[in-house]
Amino acid sequence: MQVPPGVVVAATAGTAPGPFRARPTSAGRSAESRSARDCAGAALAMLGQRSTDIPTGEGGQPVWPTGFVGSLSHCPGFTIAAVGRVGVASAIGIDVEVHRPVRPAVAATIVCGSEASMLARLASCHPPVAWSAVLWSVKESVFKAWYPLTGRWVDYTACEVVIHPDRGSFDARVVVPAGRTARSTTPRTFAGRWSVVGTHLCSVVIVPASRG
Ligand SMILES: CC(C)(COP(=O)(O)OP(=O)(O)OC[C@H]1O[C@@H](n2cnc3c(N)ncnc32)[C@H](O)[C@@H]1OP(=O)(O)O)[C@@H](O)C(=O)NCCC(=O)NCCS
Repeated sequence: MQVPPGVVVAATAGTAPGPFRARPTSAGRSAESRSARDCAGAALAMLGQRSTDIPTGEGGQPVWPTGFVGSLSHCPGFTIAAVGRVGVASAIGIDVEVHRPVRPAVAATIVCGSEASMLARLASCHPPVAWSAVLWSVKESVFKAWYPLTGRWVDYTACEVVIHPDRGSFDARVVVPAGRTARSTTPRTFAGRWSVVGTHLCSVVIVPASRG
């Protein structure tokens, strides 16, 4: 996945995903979380940062060493971290998911605007891709970039996404009532990349420093 200079992505790919587990065990999630932090440590080291302590903030967000922003994601068989210097990025969101369709009942709860028709169109033109999972992942990447900038929760249905299938990119718009963001300058539109990587898919949003 292409990222600008000053941003490093590090990942570990393990075993292929096993049978679907609606609720992963907490021990499994903890091991994944540690692995994602190891990835983050490697990325920070590549950026010349020795301190790699990454505690968790009140909203669940990772708290990065001064001078850095970043994002973590982990799921069975894949953990990933993206880290950048604050002069390059004001926020980063990254997400990895197993590449399989989101259950229709769940997918129905995350779509908004014209996304349902977009998913139908994408499925008929590019059937091998689990587009519902791409949409899900993109929204979570956007959230992980949005939250550290605003400290605000956003529901899946308050983020409208347009997926560009041939470019491996997307545009997203967060729709929240006026006055509900921390600052009027907070970005509402986000552009990013997605890709299928073997048995998984990944998406990433990098908010340029000048926009934060
Ligand atoms: C928080 C959330 C995005 C995490 O995604 P997930 O697929 O469940 O889990 P992932 O493995 O991909 O990511 C987990 C990591 O996200 C990060 N994270 C958690 N809360 C976060 C927040 N508020 N802001 C930024 N990053 C956050 C953490 O680093 C966490 O890993 P850790 O607990 O090991 O430190 C998701 O659970 C959620 O609650 N989403 C609802 C809000 C949303 O996505 N809205 C979309 C419209 S913008």
